[in-house]
Amino acid sequence: MPRVIAITSGKGGVGKSNFTLNVGICLAMMEHRVQILDADLGLANIDVLLGVRPRKTLEDVVFNGVDPREIVMKTDYRLELIPGPSGTQDMADLPGEKIEELVRSVMTISKDAEFLLVDTASGISSGVISFLLAAPEVIVGVSPEPTSLTDAYALIKVLVKNGYRGRVSMFSSMVKSSAAGHTLYKKISSASQRFLDAHVDYLGSVYLDEKLKKAVADQVPAVVRYPTSDISRSYRVIALTLLGQEVPAADEEKLWSKLIAMLAKAQRPKAPKEAALTGGDRNGSLESTLHDILSEQRKTRMLLERLVEKVGRDILTPR
Ligand SMILES: Nc1ncnc2c1ncn2[C@@H]1O[C@H](COP(=O)(O)OP(=O)(O)OP(=O)(O)O)[C@@H](O)[C@H]1O
Ligand SMILES: [Mg+2]
Repeated sequence: MPRVIAITSGKGGVGKSNFTLNVGICLAMMEHRVQILDADLGLANIDVLLGVRPRKTLEDVVFNGVDPREIVMKTDYRLELIPGPSGTQDMADLPGEKIEELVRSVMTISKDAEFLLVDTASGISSGVISFLLAAPEVIVGVSPEPTSLTDAYALIKVLVKNGYRGRVSMFSSMVKSSAAGHTLYKKISSASQRFLDAHVDYLGSVYLDEKLKKAVADQVPAVVRYPTSDISRSYRVIALTLLGQEVPAADEEKLWSKLIAMLAKAQRPKAPKEAALTGGDRNGSLESTLHDILSEQRKTRMLLERLVEKVGRDILTPR
């Protein structure tokens, strides 16, 4: 069974998906067999960062009898990607036997991997939290924004208060120096120690770097596009730190079933217009409307970043 690590954050947009992808590639480059499971149905995820488009997804396994091995995508970077559900077919009310079938499918496709990195949605939703509680290792990404810090602490608190027994690690993201990253860690770790009696491991910092944005715009992972940059070095150091950690035991059965439950529950955010007109989701949830708007805003930002980058390059390239 692979070492299963959930990557999450309290607040969104801290750099989790880039962390998962780049650290995953670093581990793969160190000769480890790595799979990434994209468990976030948001709009700009691992497939977008890699510039690939999943042809088949978990829904095809459930509804169309597709062999689970067919959905695993090989990438150019010796790392495999398991796309999450596409959100096109409703998996929320799958019968028990279908869930069990899905559990077996994911176990089959991951049985030879050494690492299964699960990129989760941020925030405190019940599906994600149940999975995190079953995951032997949780990595929390924290950026210097005050809300990122408070949301990360709130997330750790939810885990601890619900009896989490695994390891919580954190990485500092978008920081200007390793000292700044360490300061963030001290804030989280001392609050967790003092108020929750919980230990948080430190994996290191990922610097704020324009090169990361360029890599995102080019749809090439930063460690591949800029291998000698500071940001790539920080991902490599984190990969080495992970390799140095002791591997905690996992309750396998619980882990896989909560993972599948999270995937089955995940819902693709709706377009903000539709959401605004209907007053959020069908239950009229303001939180859901807000989530839709933020997702759409992020997609627009990514497209704009890509456009600005392309225009800049065209202007600079002599004809
Ligand atoms: N180290 C960094 N330096 C500069 N910009 C960064 C860095 N990390 C992330 N970003 C910016 O933040 C954006 C979001 O990054 P990413 O998609 O990895 O975050 P996320 O936490 O997965 O977001 P979400 O919660 O929406 O899934 C990137 O497209 C990039 O513009
Ligand atoms: Mg993400």
